This record gives sequence, structure tokens and C-alpha cells, in this order.
Amino acid sequence: MQRNSRLSMSSDRNLQPVNLPLDWTPGSWRARPAQQLPRYPDAGEFEATLRELHALPPLVTSWEIMTLKQHLAEAQEGRRFLLQGGDCAETFEGCSSEVISNRLKVLLQMSLVLVHGLRLPVVRVGRFAGQYAKPRSTETETRDGTTLPSYRGDIVNAPEFTAQARMPDPRRMIKAHARSAMTMNFVRALIDGGFADLHHPEYWNLAWVGHSPLADEYRQMVEGIGDAVRFMETLSGSEVHNLNRVDFYTSHEALLLPYEEGQTREVPRQWGWFNLSTHFPWIGMRTAQLDGAHVEYFRGIRNPIGLKVGPSVDADQLLRLIDVLNPDDEPGRMTLIHRMSAGQIGSRLPPLLEAVRREGRRVLWVCDPMHGNTESTSNGYKTRRFANIRSELEQAFDLHAAAGTRLGGVHLELTGEDVTECLGGARELTEADLGRAYRSNVDPRLNYEQALEIAMLIVRKRVRLEQLAGAGTIA
Ligand code: PEP
Ligand code: CO
Repeated sequence: MQRNSRLSMSSDRNLQPVNLPLDWTPGSWRARPAQQLPRYPDAGEFEATLRELHALPPLVTSWEIMTLKQHLAEAQEGRRFLLQGGDCAETFEGCSSEVISNRLKVLLQMSLVLVHGLRLPVVRVGRFAGQYAKPRSTETETRDGTTLPSYRGDIVNAPEFTAQARMPDPRRMIKAHARSAMTMNFVRALIDGGFADLHHPEYWNLAWVGHSPLADEYRQMVEGIGDAVRFMETLSGSEVHNLNRVDFYTSHEALLLPYEEGQTREVPRQWGWFNLSTHFPWIGMRTAQLDGAHVEYFRGIRNPIGLKVGPSVDADQLLRLIDVLNPDDEPGRMTLIHRMSAGQIGSRLPPLLEAVRREGRRVLWVCDPMHGNTESTSNGYKTRRFANIRSELEQAFDLHAAAGTRLGGVHLELTGEDVTECLGGARELTEADLGRAYRSNVDPRLNYEQALEIAMLIVRKRVRLEQLAGAGTIA
């Protein structure tokens, strides 16, 4: 194991003591090659913005972060299941009450299906309140002979195809921080106000859904839960507690390192550094180079972290990344989010599962069945086929079962809006439907029905695997 750490002076309650990273500061990433960062035209304005960002209050607290880490440690042991989902890219315009509450409704409904079907507590993590930076496959975009910088998410520039819109603007970091705070504030207020109360799952119904092919199955399940709650309350003569409260955590790809550094702080009564812009940052597939700036930055923060693992990563590379990012094998620290594609998962994933298991590394395995399955249609839309998403997810469960590892969560791009961005699903959306309500600036998202169908599918698949395991068919 690589020795890039030394013994800490203290330990956290519940979590084992870990070592402090050596030779690390919140800005030590600056000495490493950095992918995917914009070039700001005015250095003076950029520096002034960073100073302002450093002075602004953080968005989350270290004790929320440590609680999530504990929950992820339990998920690593099979005692919880992770549901991580939200937009591919949040937009400043999408920071509205409707978009935020609809997204929350879908995540709450999905988590109810999962809790009920898996009989496990679900860790709910949104891709929101900070998911504003996007990696791009090309630096520039050319249209009709004009070449401009690529759109890199609202925290960097704007999507319109004009020179002014595409110019990276550091003031957008301040706006992103503010929009993240507003999103977080509204989510917290909704949850505290009883929006997630299990006595009232009708609060989570979406106005536009009407009659969905999945609605009956969902409604039956909700009624069953309602009956069970009322039965328990009659029996005990009082309200069952904690049914009106759920925890929601936030996550985003920590891509724009100057922004992340500006929110990286030391806090009283905890040792080390925390990224306080989000509970759960992850490293994107395009910025996971072992000696790159992003891995250097993530090495030193105490948050639980995610690492996207694509089809080009081999077992040796993955083990070296785990060594650098979690040298002490700390529980809850490391989540590996594999995103291979339906076609490649069967050949690419098993060697990784085998290597991590053989080395006894403690990780949470999560499947992102979205990002390997993006394609373009003949009429120019970026889309994903529901059949491929389902196939990758089902294969993931089977491959983990065969390897003796555990798939402990799912990572999805979804929205509560009535969009037509992914093909197939219960309503069998076709290429012709895509034009009706394609709203994503970046990747295609599951709509409400497709997302709920995924939750039901996870339950069916897990229950089936447990039955097979019970019957002794698999180890
Ligand atoms: C994403 O999650 O939106 C993304 C860009 O994923 P990946 O890094 O896995 O391609
Ligand atoms: Co995406």
C-alpha cells in the first residue's frame, strides 16, 4: 500500500482512525496536470472571485458529511442501499420550486419502492445543489463554420452558441454557490415541513403523470404501507415516529477545482479538511488520472468520495487509485460507480470485481447504467435506450452475484419533469417522441415513469437473486 499518509492524532466516533494525507493542501492540485478546466480570460477578476468564494459560508456541515459516511459504511456491509440520482446538469434556470420539488418527489417514490421491496434502509443522495460543471469530450464546438468553446455547465459559461455566452465567466461560480444554497434551503424546508411524511405519500404525486402503466402497482404498494402504518399506530396507541422525516444528501461531480477549493475548510472539533460545498463529491471518468489534479484534490478531503469507473480502466489502475484515495481502507470512504455500457459490462467488470475482492479493499459498488449507453439518433438527439439501461443494470446484479461481491446502489440521471429524452420504457417512447419534450442541455434523463420502472426492476432482480441464493443455486 502506498505510504502517502501519517498517523492522525484523533479518531471519529464510530469510524476507525485514519491517517492524515502527507504533503497535501486544498491547493496542492495546482501543481498537477488538470483536465477539463476552463481558461478564464481575466486573471484579476478570477482571483477576486475566488477570494469572495472563500469568504462565503459553506453549504453543508462536517457532521452531516460524517453521518453520510457512516451510512455508506453500512451500505458497504449490505445493510443499506444507495439511491443516487438527479439531473445530468442542473441549470440556473432550473432552480425553481417546481423542478426541485418534482425531482424530490421522484426520488422519494423510488426510495419508497426500494425500501419496501429490498427491506433495507435507503441512503438518498441527490445529484443536485451543485451539479453545475460538465466535462466535455471536445474543447470546442463548431457550427456552420464558426468555432466556439464548448458549453461546460452553467457554473462556467452559457449554452447559447454565441462568443459572449461561451466565454468562461468566474462570476458564475458565485451564482452557482447561491443557487446551490437556495436549492438546499428549499429541500431542507420541504423535508422539515413534512413533505416526506410517510403518512402522506400523496404529497409526492406528480401533477402531469395522469394514468401511468406503473401507477397501479405503485398505488397498491403505497396503500399496503399505509395500512401497515395505521395498524402499527392502532396497536401502539401512538404515532410511529420518524416516518415524517427522511434524510437527503447532496452530491456533484467536483470538476471545477478552483470552486471546490474555495469551499474546502477546516472546522472546529474535527481534524482535517472538508469539502463543504456538498456531502458527497465524485471524480468523473475523464478526470480520474492517477497523477492528475482531481485525484490529488480528492486525496486530501475527508468527505466520502465517488469514483466513476469506465470500460478503459484495468484492475491494476483501479487498485492504485484506491491506494491513493483510501490508503487506510476507511469504512464509508470509497464508492466505485461503474459505467461500462450494456455491451461491455460483461467483459470489463468481472476482472475489477475480482481484483478488489482479492485485495480485500473496502468499497461500495454502485452501477451507473446511464453513461455508457449514450447514443445519437438519426434525427440528431443524444439519447439512451431504456432496454440498454435495464440490461446493464441486470447484468451488474448478476456479475456481482457471480463474483461474490455486492451491488450496493444505483446512480441515475432522472428528472420529475415530463420529458422525452430516453427511448423505450413503459410508454415505449420512440425516436419520433424525442422532439416533443427534449429539454436536457447535456445528457438524456429518465422521466418519472422510466425512473420508477428502474426502482421496481431493482427490487425484482434483487428478490430473484436472493431466492436463487436461498435455493443454493449461487454462492
Ligand atoms: C456524469 O455523471 O454526468 C458524467 C459526465 O459521467 P462520467 O464521468 O461517468 O462520464
Ligand atoms: Co451525464
